[in-house]
Amino acid sequence: MSDAFLQPITGHILIVDDVPENVQLLSRTLSEQGHKVRGVLSGEMALRASKALPDLILLDIMMPDMDGYEVCRKLKASPLTANIPVIFLSALDAVADKVKAFDVGGVDYITKPFQLKEVHARVNHQLKLQQLQQQLMAQAETLNQKNVRLQQEIRDREQIEAALRVSEVEERNKKHQLSQTLEQLQQAQAQLVQQEKMSGLGQLVAGVAHEINNPVTFIYGNLQCAENYAQDLLKALQIYQRAMPTLPTELQTEVESLELEFIQEDFPKLLQSINVGSERIREIVQSLRIFSRHSEAEIKAVDIHEGIDSTLTILKSRLRAQADQAAVTVLKDYGDLPTVECYPGRLNQVLMNILTNGIDALEILRRAEETAYSHRQPTIRIQTKSLPGDRIGIYISDNGPGIPKEVQSRLFDPFFTTKDIGKGTGLGLSISYKIIVDHHQGELRCLSVPGKGAMFAIEIPVVQTP
Ligand SMILES: Nc1ncnc2c1ncn2[C@@H]1O[C@H](COP(=O)(O)OP(=O)(O)OP(=O)(O)O)[C@@H](O)[C@H]1O
Ligand SMILES: [Mg+2]
Repeated sequence: MSDAFLQPITGHILIVDDVPENVQLLSRTLSEQGHKVRGVLSGEMALRASKALPDLILLDIMMPDMDGYEVCRKLKASPLTANIPVIFLSALDAVADKVKAFDVGGVDYITKPFQLKEVHARVNHQLKLQQLQQQLMAQAETLNQKNVRLQQEIRDREQIEAALRVSEVEERNKKHQLSQTLEQLQQAQAQLVQQEKMSGLGQLVAGVAHEINNPVTFIYGNLQCAENYAQDLLKALQIYQRAMPTLPTELQTEVESLELEFIQEDFPKLLQSINVGSERIREIVQSLRIFSRHSEAEIKAVDIHEGIDSTLTILKSRLRAQADQAAVTVLKDYGDLPTVECYPGRLNQVLMNILTNGIDALEILRRAEETAYSHRQPTIRIQTKSLPGDRIGIYISDNGPGIPKEVQSRLFDPFFTTKDIGKGTGLGLSISYKIIVDHHQGELRCLSVPGKGAMFAIEIPVVQTP
């Protein structure tokens, strides 16, 4: 840099001096150095000539009309000429004069009579400084433009990133909505399947009940008649026996082989047991009819106990003793309940799900082989009671193995099951929850002490408000 700095450099130079000889001398010597030189003899002329924007002005101080200080002040006051460096030329040698020269904006000071070498060196120095300054400004301008471009790029990038973030959030929201919709669809589908199953079961039960009802009514209606006929026949036989104490041998042998006395005594008992049996069938048919009537979909005020009993009737075959399983004892502890407004079919579905789960849980107690639970009599207890605030509660408990804490928190989740594939869909409790909470404004809770059993509490209002 210092070498470059020493290299001579040429430029446009304006010389201002009221002494023509000075102007000539300087013009000549500077021209010889390769500079383009213009000389003027007054401040006024200098101001005009400066409009051509020379690279440097050599300015005499002492001039008539307008001195060099005044010329320099005016040059610095105009934005057009303010940056042209001014070197003062003067015979004034006092420090105050030099200071004033710098104060008004001069960049250097050459004392007359001047040494030409000094003039060359100072001119060269100023031109070089100016050139460097221009280069620096050009570089600064380029840097500034780059900076502006970079900032624009950063802003663009930030905008793109923000847009990407927004679309990422939108994407996540969409995915969330989709999975929620899918879950709702699955639940709705599962519920439809369950309802279909229940109404199918209701229709089947209604059909069977109807078919059995006719012959049973027929048997039951004729039984009384059969009993009367039997009484009459037995009475007639006794009269015969009294009127003819001695029978012909052939007849006597036949009477003895028939054990007529036993028949006379046993026949009324037999008829009585047929009577009890057909009475029982009538009761079962009645339960089946209630169950199927409850399968209807509209809201109705019903006797909850009838619903529970008819559901138990449907489940009877699962409760009784099997070849390799003990029977389940069902204890009923029914309170005094008013009729309750509900969707009887859906409520039956809940009772069926909870009772089936209870029966499933008791399986381990019912097996013949020895287990930790073998000493327990498998039992389902159903309690009902009226609750304050016009509500009723149905509490179904079993003394099975209970439900571990980590399972309890997921019981009502759709598709949650601990049963083998094909045995449980994991929908029973989630659908029951929806039916009790959403359709009946009620509550469905589970209480379980693992190892001791489980209890499901259904609590619903007596009247459904729309
Ligand atoms: N009384 C109970 N004792 C022990 N565990 C129970 C009881 N009731 C429910 N559970 C547990 O809750 C799980 C979920 O029950 P849910 O009725 O929803 O489905 P599932 O019985 O497995 O299948 P699905 O009812 O659809 O056939 C069961 O798999 C079981 O682990
Ligand atoms: Mg179930």
